[in-house]
Amino acid sequence: MTKKLVVFGLGQRGNIYAAFAKMNPEKFDLVAVIENNPARMELAKTTYPGVRLFANYHDFLAEKIEADIVAVATQDDDHKEHAIAMMEAGYDLLLEKPIANHLADCEAIYETSKKYNRKVVICHVLRYTPFYSTVKRIIDSGKLGEVVTVHASENVGYYHQAHSFVRGPWRNKAASSPMILAKCCHDMDILRYLIGEKCLSVNSYGSLSHFTKENAPKGSTEYCSDCPHTDCIYKAQTLYTSPCSDFFANYFTTKEHTKENILNDLKGTQYDKCVYQTDNDVVDHQVTIMLFENGKTACHTMTAFSKEIYRDLKIHGTKAELVGCVEENWLEIRNFGGEVERIEIDVSAANVGGHMGGDYFMMNSLYKALNGEAAEGVTYLDVSIDSHLMSFAAEESRLNNGETVKIRR
Ligand SMILES: NC(=O)c1ccc[n+]([C@@H]2O[C@H](COP(=O)([O-])OP(=O)(O)OC[C@H]3O[C@@H](n4cnc5c(N)ncnc54)[C@H](O)[C@@H]3O)[C@@H](O)[C@H]2O)c1
Repeated sequence: MTKKLVVFGLGQRGNIYAAFAKMNPEKFDLVAVIENNPARMELAKTTYPGVRLFANYHDFLAEKIEADIVAVATQDDDHKEHAIAMMEAGYDLLLEKPIANHLADCEAIYETSKKYNRKVVICHVLRYTPFYSTVKRIIDSGKLGEVVTVHASENVGYYHQAHSFVRGPWRNKAASSPMILAKCCHDMDILRYLIGEKCLSVNSYGSLSHFTKENAPKGSTEYCSDCPHTDCIYKAQTLYTSPCSDFFANYFTTKEHTKENILNDLKGTQYDKCVYQTDNDVVDHQVTIMLFENGKTACHTMTAFSKEIYRDLKIHGTKAELVGCVEENWLEIRNFGGEVERIEIDVSAANVGGHMGGDYFMMNSLYKALNGEAAEGVTYLDVSIDSHLMSFAAEESRLNNGETVKIRR
């Protein structure tokens, strides 16, 4: 049965959910969009004709529109207000990660969901990717034996780090959230999901080591456009005109991505800033070790310093080990005393969104869950909040030189 969807915040993420409905009309019917940016409202009129548009959520609530789910895809700091208002009005939610930037706000959202008995699905899109879904099925089949320990790494990519976490919206902890939440809550969720137990305690180490004023090359200037170091690997003009960073240019230009438009619109913006001379303070590397129930352990490494953006995974079970690379969509089961099985993951079914199929398959699972069917990957806030508790605990540990922090719940 088709489900009625409302998108709250028609930005990069909200558009994916709206586009899913448009491309899969037998699953979701986009009944309303709440968006306060006039340019995006205009775009919505042509992209999603006939859909009711609201410039603020109070007007939307006044209309009492019937809907099965509201996708809250506004910015992190607004999640608390928007999620709570929607739940109080009677809606179940698809809520973008992070749940909120602060632990108290996450708890407030959770308490509201319990008070009103609302379902809240968090957009932990990775768990819906064909890669991690396959891994989860292999674990559940018992093929690896008992999972004993997991090692996961998140290689952010030097250019992605420079864009998002040195120059961009997530560069400063006070203005956004710590790296381990903003970037790695997905990974914490995956570890919780794959291990299938609660995390009991964490220890974490890390720092901002490279993108600091002390490391600025002699003679470098505040803006790359004025800088004599033309061969710097972080030079904004080079990064934003290279194919790997093309998408990131959306952050400072709405024009066509010609070299001329990018260079003109980049000049003098936050994204033209020298990576050694901005107000960033989030870490560029962090290692977190975790103890789960039943003595299971995990280790997660986040690093800025990789040529490409990729995550890799090693799961050590009592009968076999599993290794794989998420972005390359392959995994191997190395059976002890047996064969090495190589599995190539097929992501071709995904017709909308990104995240190696995660966006698409999340919406499919959500549809099934809303229809009361078994829905792979779907958990609600009572489980999903664990990833955030792990992240906040890791940050607390990091700030206290790696001391053990117990997860309180
Ligand atoms: N699940 C993931 O993997 C993933 C990936 C990227 C971003 N995110 C998260 O998704 C959320 C949205 O990110 P984005 O990149 O789409 O941001 P965005 O800025 O492109 O989109 C947010 C939209 O909300 C609108 N908006 C803001 N306040 C509003 C209000 N009061 N009323 C109506 N509309 C309002 C903005 O105009 C904008 O169009 C963030 O929380 C972000 O951290 C999640």
